[in-house]
Amino acid sequence: MSRDGAGPPRAELEQYATDLFVREDPLLAELRAEMESRDLPMIQVPARTGLLLSILVRACGARRILEVGTLGGYSALWMASSLPPEGRLLTLEQSPDHAELAREFIHRAGRSEHMEVRVGNADELLPGVEDEGKWDVVFIDADKERYGSYLKQAERLLRPGGLLLADNVFWQGRILEETGEADESTKALQEFNRALAGHASFDATILPVGDGVALGVRR
Ligand SMILES: C[S@@+](CC[C@H](N)C(=O)[O-])C[C@H]1O[C@@H](n2cnc3c(N)ncnc32)[C@H](O)[C@@H]1O
Repeated sequence: MSRDGAGPPRAELEQYATDLFVREDPLLAELRAEMESRDLPMIQVPARTGLLLSILVRACGARRILEVGTLGGYSALWMASSLPPEGRLLTLEQSPDHAELAREFIHRAGRSEHMEVRVGNADELLPGVEDEGKWDVVFIDADKERYGSYLKQAERLLRPGGLLLADNVFWQGRILEETGEADESTKALQEFNRALAGHASFDATILPVGDGVALGVRR
């Protein structure tokens, strides 16, 4: 067994796991290329995180997934690949341009009937989503400053046993910065991680995949 500092670097181990397990759908590779050609920010989850999300969706038998932060629909399409035929995914996105691309690729994937991209500020849209019933999975991947607010909403929206997922909780290492020196996004993520770690409604941890994925099971 390797001890801290004694084994190969984590990046090499992640690459090993990626090479062995990750098979990206060619449509998703096309989506990445299209995002690049339209000058969209290339801040979608890496493929290994996409695979992790899709496996977690399958593991909990999810039928209803809510995503906060669509971008071009890359993570949404990974997760939807594990939904049963009658499953539903709702994803919230404030940028009409991002939403348009996501809808285009959702259509090309033949999933328009089951996947909805709703345009607007997630903080304003989420209270309305509460009227649509409970969700099996909530995936948070939008503005980092609002992660704490999304956590509060997710607590209300998830069914018991449902999964809370949130990307970027390592924030490329900046999560370790002293709070006094950290910027607003970093501080918000530090606060989010602390809140989740001590949360009475979640059994939670961080999976060290990609940029860190928070995982909480709703009690
Ligand atoms: C990191 S990207 C999402 C990546 C996507 N989940 C993926 O992996 O393919 C974050 C997205 O959240 C959107 N966003 C940021 N703040 C938002 C807000 N308050 N409400 C809704 N969407 C927001 C941004 O426009 C951006 O498209």
